[in-house]
Amino acid sequence: MALAKRRGFIYQASEIYGGINGFWDYGPLGAQLKKNLRDAWWEDVVLNPCGGRPGPNGEPVRIVPLDSSIIQHPRVWEASGHIAGFSDPMVDCRETKQRYRFDHLLVYVAEGADGGVKPLFAFMPDTPSEVRQRKRAEKSLGAVRSVPLAELARSEWARIIAPDADKPGSLTEPRAFNLMFRTYVGATATEDDVAYLRPETAQGIFVQFKNVIDTTRVKLPFGIAQVGKAFRNEVTPRNFTFRSREFEQMEIEFFCHASEARAWYAFWRDERMRWWRSLGLAGANLQLREHGRDELAHYAREGAGTSDVEYRFPFTAPGFGELEGVAHRADFDLAQHQKFARTSLEYFDAERGELLPNGSRRGERYLPHVIEPSAGLDRGVLAVMCEAYRHDPSRASPEMLLLSPRLAPIKAAIFPLVNKDGLPEVSEKLYADVRGHLWRHGLIEHDAKQAIGKRYARMDEAGCPFCFTIDGQTLTDQTVTVRDRDTAQQQRIAIAQVVPYLTERLSLASR
Ligand code: GAP
Repeated sequence: MALAKRRGFIYQASEIYGGINGFWDYGPLGAQLKKNLRDAWWEDVVLNPCGGRPGPNGEPVRIVPLDSSIIQHPRVWEASGHIAGFSDPMVDCRETKQRYRFDHLLVYVAEGADGGVKPLFAFMPDTPSEVRQRKRAEKSLGAVRSVPLAELARSEWARIIAPDADKPGSLTEPRAFNLMFRTYVGATATEDDVAYLRPETAQGIFVQFKNVIDTTRVKLPFGIAQVGKAFRNEVTPRNFTFRSREFEQMEIEFFCHASEARAWYAFWRDERMRWWRSLGLAGANLQLREHGRDELAHYAREGAGTSDVEYRFPFTAPGFGELEGVAHRADFDLAQHQKFARTSLEYFDAERGELLPNGSRRGERYLPHVIEPSAGLDRGVLAVMCEAYRHDPSRASPEMLLLSPRLAPIKAAIFPLVNKDGLPEVSEKLYADVRGHLWRHGLIEHDAKQAIGKRYARMDEAGCPFCFTIDGQTLTDQTVTVRDRDTAQQQRIAIAQVVPYLTERLSLASR
């Protein structure tokens, strides 16, 4: 987090006003890194789906893009189930006025029998209350163990001391707290004008499904992809950007015939794992986890299930945190919108149905089933930064980010060894040349200040994969050094080879 701040990747939103919990801003390097990850997704999902690999039907995977509004008709969220069901159960403490996630609270109880009269001590894991309450509990109860609050009988609640309270019995009954941000559309701001900031980009896709079918030539199976902001009034935003209140999603809704949905589900689950791996999240920190029946969201229960691509973030370790969910949503969403909007969202498939004597098909009208790979862009940025981070005290530049060249915000840096003796003139010319050819790939930097070791260290921290240095020898033999970030090794190449050298490495790295 310190590196992210120091090098201008991620800042606290409204920091000069003391910050605002759950909101983050991306600085110059972070904004470019985030764009590179968003672009990588767009390229590999929309422009060249799955790198050209065929789907389970043996044909190229078809995906079209969409960019829908953040604010939709409020009925969209009724139909999707978000108004009734998108909520967390909360309990309030009457003594301290604090509010807690009911399903996150744990309680210290006596290891053995405790006579049933002594107080019990509630705490929120990973907060100071965990240690404080444990001390109090051990003093009062001896050896203790923790149990979820939800597992305790209601009759026990009168004995519970809330995490930040002094007296027992201050916790209220759990109440549902809706996570959608409310706003008003228009000037009157009455309850009739209430609207919501979208909590997911997915619904914008479902409500435009019919328009996309009617105005393009797409045929099932195909997907609609969208990247954009989503908003959730998370009760406990935490773990840096992992759980924020404003974040970006990269979602695909893939529409297919019900009979093919299981095969597409398996395809997308594996494909999305492969994609994250291709960005450098290889190894034991990435895993695919199939949800148990009891974990499934309302829309996934009818389908074949849900899998999460999970990453072991330093702050979730040894546990994992969700990076992307791949859900089999069946026809839940289209059926709901069809019902609430009173309009048919059925698809006419001319290639299905009974074979007619003339060799054509009768056709079949049906509501498609949906497979949804839904990824978090901000969580993706966080995961690639965590995976790339190295601390090696033996190096002159101990902290570095081994970002893949495809994602690195700065692709190359050009330095004169010293800021005199005719070297800056040569390096500035090379800089102009490299920028002129490669600016589309990302940022190219020129830096003539400070000792060369410090300049290398700055680039290592920024994750810049290649640094080129002009030195005295350049003036005599037209060669420069190129330094590899990962090994800190240098080699000499002809100055005329710098652009081809980078072109090859940057375009290879973006496949
Ligand atoms: N349309 C399905 C859907 O929204 P989700 O699992 O709630 O599913 C999808 O969200 C992805 O969005 C998650 O895998 C995660 O990467 C990201 N995400 C969800 N809530 C988030 C939050 N509060 N902060 C940052 N990212 C979040």
